[in-house]
Amino acid sequence: MDFLELAKGRYSVRSFLDKKVEAEKIAKILFAANVAPTACNNQPQKIYILQSEEALSKLSSVCKYTFGAKTIFLLCYDENLAWQNPLTKGYNSGETDVSIVCTHMMLEAHNLGLGSCWVGYFEHSKISEIFSLPDNIKPVALLPIGYIPDSSRPSHLHETYRKQDEMVEIL
Ligand SMILES: Cc1cc2nc3c(=O)[nH]c(=O)nc-3n(C[C@H](O)[C@H](O)[C@H](O)COP(=O)(O)O)c2cc1C
Repeated sequence: MDFLELAKGRYSVRSFLDKKVEAEKIAKILFAANVAPTACNNQPQKIYILQSEEALSKLSSVCKYTFGAKTIFLLCYDENLAWQNPLTKGYNSGETDVSIVCTHMMLEAHNLGLGSCWVGYFEHSKISEIFSLPDNIKPVALLPIGYIPDSSRPSHLHETYRKQDEMVEIL
């Protein structure tokens, strides 16, 4: 598939069929996470796969955007592994790295015929608390994935693009 076709075809899916995502597909999505570029190739991403009833119900207690998915990735970075920019005090690449990782995962899920939705609407400290994350592991995003119901449609925002002359400036 042409890259732009793939990128345009992916949209945020917010309901899922009650059908398990096969382990082979999860493995491919995780490989897409592996091959993502990261600063200095430090690969600080730490990915939790929430699949047990217990983990999913814990998550639902602190995040309303789980969309009934039976597989949800919790994407974090390890602060001890993230590249520290020596020229900008206090800046590390963790969030940026995980954002690229998450984008790769969404695109590979779409490539495999699965839906996903990046979820950032949660309180970071609550996620850390319910999953007892070590202090150096920082949550960035949730990614529910699953099979897409026939009735699923992109939201109107999916094709709402800012004009390129607002977004781009040639210097
Ligand atoms: C950083 C980030 C955080 C987001 N958080 C949420 C969220 O908490 N809940 C949700 O339903 N969608 C969330 N989204 C999905 C966006 O709303 C969606 O990508 C955007 O409206 C464009 O639509 P599309 O993904 O269908 O193209 C998030 C997306 C990004 C990139």
